[in-house]
Amino acid sequence: MKNDDVHGLANGLTNYGDRDFALYLRRSFARSMGYSNEMLARPTVGIAYTPSGFNNCHRHFPELLDAVKRGVIAAGGLPLEFPTVSLGEVFLSPTSLRFRNLMAMDTEEMIRAQPMDSVVLMGGCDKTVPAQLMGAMSAGRPAIQLVGGPMMTGRHQGERLGACTDCRRFWSKYRATEIDKVTIDKIEGRLSTTSGTCAVMGTASTMACLAEALGMMLPGTAAIPAVHADRLRAAEASGIAAVQMIGSNRTPGNIITAKSLENALQVLLAIGGSTNAIIHLAAIAGRAGLPMSLDRLNELSDTTPVLVNLKPTGDNYMEDFFAGGGVGAVMRELKNDLHLDCLTVTGETLGERLAADEEWVDRSIIAAYDRPIEPVGGLVALFGSLAPGGAILKRSAADERLFEGEGRAVVFDSLADLAARIDDPDLDVQANDYLVLQNAGPFSASCMPEAGYLPIPKKLAQQGVKDMVRLSDARMSGTAFGTVILHVTPDSASGGPLAFVRNGDRIRLSVKQRRIDLLVEPAELERRRAAKGSVVPPVPERGYGRLYAEQILGADEGCDFRFLKPVAAE
Ligand code: FES
Ligand code: MG
Repeated sequence: MKNDDVHGLANGLTNYGDRDFALYLRRSFARSMGYSNEMLARPTVGIAYTPSGFNNCHRHFPELLDAVKRGVIAAGGLPLEFPTVSLGEVFLSPTSLRFRNLMAMDTEEMIRAQPMDSVVLMGGCDKTVPAQLMGAMSAGRPAIQLVGGPMMTGRHQGERLGACTDCRRFWSKYRATEIDKVTIDKIEGRLSTTSGTCAVMGTASTMACLAEALGMMLPGTAAIPAVHADRLRAAEASGIAAVQMIGSNRTPGNIITAKSLENALQVLLAIGGSTNAIIHLAAIAGRAGLPMSLDRLNELSDTTPVLVNLKPTGDNYMEDFFAGGGVGAVMRELKNDLHLDCLTVTGETLGERLAADEEWVDRSIIAAYDRPIEPVGGLVALFGSLAPGGAILKRSAADERLFEGEGRAVVFDSLADLAARIDDPDLDVQANDYLVLQNAGPFSASCMPEAGYLPIPKKLAQQGVKDMVRLSDARMSGTAFGTVILHVTPDSASGGPLAFVRNGDRIRLSVKQRRIDLLVEPAELERRRAAKGSVVPPVPERGYGRLYAEQILGADEGCDFRFLKPVAAE
C-alpha cells in the first residue's frame, strides 16, 4: 500500500501552496458524511456506479453496491461510489453507441479527478462495460470490472423466453401473421422478467465474457445471473480485490495487452459472441495504443471453434452457460491456443487461474475443443470493392446457403426510407435480392444504430422467406440472427462505396474468399460520386453532437473519438 501522502483522500490533492490546509478542508467535508477518522485514514476504493431509472438492466445495483462496499470495508478500504453516465440500451436515441464515448470520458475523468486508489467498475448493459474499460484504460489506476449479470429466462405456455433473441423470433412470427396481437402482448410481458442484462449471448453477455477473458474481472463471475446469491458474493469479492490491487501493477494497461486482446478475440469466436464486440475491442485496444486487425480476426476465426451452445446461435441461455461452466470452461478448452502468461486482476496469470478452476463442464452447453459445435469461429471479416476497410458477418447466425452468390441490390438510402418502403406491397424485391441500407454508419446522423438486421419485406415474410442477404454500415444487435453484413467501412456518410450503390446493381458475396464486391465499374462509381457531391452530413452547431461529428472514427477504429486515443498511437 502506498504511503500516507499519496493514498486515500490525500490522493491528487490540489493545494494552492498550503497542502495541510487543503487536506484539512477535504477531510472536514468528508467528515460531514459521518465517516470516522479511522475510516478516513483508509485507502479509498472508488466505485463507478451506474444505476438509472432509464436502465432496467442495472435495477439491482443498489443491492450489488452494498456487497461491493462490504468487501472493501472488510479488506481495510473506504468505499466511495460515484455516479457516471449510465446507458440503458433500449432507452437511448438515436442509439446508445453515440453515448459510449461520453460514458468513457466521464468514467476516465472521474477516476482521475477524484481521490481513489483503485476503482470497481459496475457495468452491465451493452455499452457500459466497453465504456468503463476504455475510460479505466486511459485513467491508468488499478481497476476491476464487475457486471450486473444476465437476466433469468421467463416462460410462455411452457416455452422458455429470453431477451432478446426470442423478442425477435416472436416479432417475426407476428409480422408473418403466425401469431395474433393477444399473444404478442402476452409475450411482451414475459421476455424480460428480472433485473440484469439480456439473457442470451448478446452484446452485454459477450462483453462480460470478454472482460473476464481479458483478465479484468474476477474468475468465474461473468455469467452469474443477476439475481443469484453468487452475484452478491462476486460483488463482495470484487470489493476485496479492489483493495488488494492498491499500489500494485494491476492497472488496465498491464492487463489489457496485445496478448490478452488476442485471448479475448478467441473467446469471442468460441462463444459465438456479438458483432458489436469487434467494435468495442477495437476501441479498447486503441486506448492501449494497440491495433486490432480484421485480418488477424479472420486467421483466428479459421482456427477457433465455436464451443458454446447459446442463443442467438444455439439453444440455451446465460443461466445455462453459468451452470454449465461459464467462461472458465471455455478458456480451459482453448487453453493450448491462449496466451497463458497474461496478468489478471487477482495477480495470478491466466494459466494459474485456469489451473485453479473447478474441472466440471456441462457438455450440452460447452463443447469439447475436439468435438466443437462448429469447427470454425462465429465471426468473419469481409473485404472487397464494397468494403475496402472491412465488414463483419456473423456466419454462425447466418444461413450458409446464402454464403456464395450474387444478388441484385435493393437499396434504401436511410432509416426513414427503409421504414417507409420495406413493407410496401409494390416494392420490387425478390427473395434472392440483396437488401442494402445506406447512411446508418458511425459518420451518419443516426450514429450507427442496430439497424443492420433489416426486416424481411412483409410480402416475402408472408411467403415464408426467413433469411436474405442484408448489407449496411449499421450494427446489429448481438441477439439477432440472419445473413447480415455489417459495419461496411468506410461508411456511406464518409464517402465509402456503399454510398453509391443503386437499385439493380449486382453485388457478389463469397464468405469462402472473405469478399464482398460491388460489380460496378470504378469509372461509373466515380461518375456517381461526382454527381452526388458531398455525402457528409452537416456538423451540429453545438454540444456533444458537434464533438461527436468532429471526432468520430470509423468502425475499424472502434468508433472511438480521435482525441481520446493515446497520443503515441496517432
Ligand atoms: Fe441491457 Fe440488453 S438491454 S443488456
Ligand atoms: Mg443488445
